[in-house]
Amino acid sequence: CGIIGYIGKRNAVPVLLYGLQRLEYRGYDSAGISVIDKTGNKIIVEKQVGKIKDLQEHLWNKKIEGHIGVGHSRWATHGSPTIENAHPHTSQKGTISIVHNGIIENYLELKKELIEKGYRFRSETDTEVIAHLFEDFYTGDLLETALKVAKKLDGAYAVGVISTYEPDRIIAIKKGSPLIIGLGKDENFIASDIPAVLEYTKDFIALEDGEIALVTKDNVEIYNLEGKKLNKKPFHVTWDVSVAEKAGYKHFMQKEIHEQPRTIGDTITGFLSSKDEDLYRMIKDTDKLYIIACGTSYHAALVGKFWIEKFARIPVEVDYASEYRYRDRIIDKKTVVMGISQSGETADTRFALLDAKNEGAKTLSLVNVVGSSLSRETDFVLYTYCGPEIGVAATKTFTAQLVALLLFALEAGLGRKTITKDDYEKIHNELLHIPSKVEEILKKDDEIKDLAHRYMNASDFLFLGRNINYPIALEGALKLKEISYIHAEGYPAGEMKHGPIALIDEKLPVVCVIPNDRYYEKMFSNIQEVKARKGKVISVATEGDKQIENVSDEVIYIPETLDPLYPILTVIPLQQLSYHIATLLGKDVDQPRNLAKTVTVE
Ligand code: G6P
Repeated sequence: CGIIGYIGKRNAVPVLLYGLQRLEYRGYDSAGISVIDKTGNKIIVEKQVGKIKDLQEHLWNKKIEGHIGVGHSRWATHGSPTIENAHPHTSQKGTISIVHNGIIENYLELKKELIEKGYRFRSETDTEVIAHLFEDFYTGDLLETALKVAKKLDGAYAVGVISTYEPDRIIAIKKGSPLIIGLGKDENFIASDIPAVLEYTKDFIALEDGEIALVTKDNVEIYNLEGKKLNKKPFHVTWDVSVAEKAGYKHFMQKEIHEQPRTIGDTITGFLSSKDEDLYRMIKDTDKLYIIACGTSYHAALVGKFWIEKFARIPVEVDYASEYRYRDRIIDKKTVVMGISQSGETADTRFALLDAKNEGAKTLSLVNVVGSSLSRETDFVLYTYCGPEIGVAATKTFTAQLVALLLFALEAGLGRKTITKDDYEKIHNELLHIPSKVEEILKKDDEIKDLAHRYMNASDFLFLGRNINYPIALEGALKLKEISYIHAEGYPAGEMKHGPIALIDEKLPVVCVIPNDRYYEKMFSNIQEVKARKGKVISVATEGDKQIENVSDEVIYIPETLDPLYPILTVIPLQQLSYHIATLLGKDVDQPRNLAKTVTVE
């Protein structure tokens, strides 16, 4: 879900709608806003099921005006996407209006207490309890009330509150879900994420868990849950609004695919200019590394395992964060747990890392968002330098994660003396050519679009790869199913004969990742097995490999590189292929159904 709030000189309605649009990637099954009207006595609430543009259309002819308001785009957790369940939620007397992101774990218990006191509930959400609690606890001071309410709530949440009792302020509470304060002149903002208000300001305060903000049009005060006033330093971002716009591309996903030469380059530079000596001192003694992540970040972790084991000789176990959290992992002082997360907010990854930290592990995160929860909660942080990623399906953050993991493995290997300086330099030098090699692949976009045309009507796809390109097969399949809704499976090519081979017939496209590396011959045999069963072979192979054409229906060529670096190249045509198949099928690639960019619930 996404939260926005505005107080200041402008009409709040367009500011809230603009912010919600920027936050739509966080979830989008319904949306709403509430503003206090000019008299200060009435809260006007408007909601719609669907996307922000549906809310916008709904508001067209209503002349709503007010200088303070909150808004919300919802991704359902408790209760289906209906108008009643959409936020903002209002207290019984209509004096308090609430937007909320996260989950109130003890809401059933609170709901029962409130019903006994005579409160009537209009929605099935956990959020409504917060509105009634504010009403119930109101002491004549909204901040004091917020402190009381926060003490009652269990779970992870970010909340924005406005009230006719004190129509000149917004209260924002953060515990577990992201929330930032945007600082303007004669106006201030609250939002789940920076792009929501980047149009208006570049100065921000990031709220930490257990903090409450009191925001008026010309002042922002931050308190802890004991009511003690805190002194927080604002930060300035240099991103341009245009970074968060589509810059001439049809979709954010397309723009982000095409940004990769730059984001890979920026990540190399960023990584090399921010080397944390303490991290590599710690890694010298590490004897086990767990990497945990979800979705696309999980696939980056799988590639990272190959590099870290190869170059740094540390045994690596990779796990889905949601699984890792509930298994009997073995942790001691020399264990490091690394969480990879583009957003730095994914609940599964965060909570699994916090648990591991409590058990004595050292923790490390790899995130794209500075100041995100994960970056603050781990002992060490590595960054990718991509700017905001808006398309729900991760693309540029994936290749940047790969680059960061490779550089980390090399750096760790050098410290542990498990690679030679020569090998280290050889790979470094080649890495510097990767952005231009990605550029070359991107030039084949039309060719890949034609290919997409030929296969867009298939009902299933199989993706195969070996060794370090096996996770790329998984990622290729995930991309395709996420945005085109075509069923796809990724498999290690050698494992195909133990099951998926039964699926192969003349209707099944099989995407084979076969760069010119030391597994080429083995992969070639696997492709022959597919061909013998009349499968349609689409190969991703190295430029100059002519023999692959004998066993393939289609070949997409990529430039040559060193064996370990291939995954950064082989994934690019798979992203393009999914993008084109999905758009040709008329799917909404930036906001695929049922998915959210940032999943802050378990
Ligand atoms: C969601 C997104 C995926 C993403 C995953 C992990 O499911 O739809 O694209 O890979 O979360 O997100 P993270 O921010 O932790 O990398």
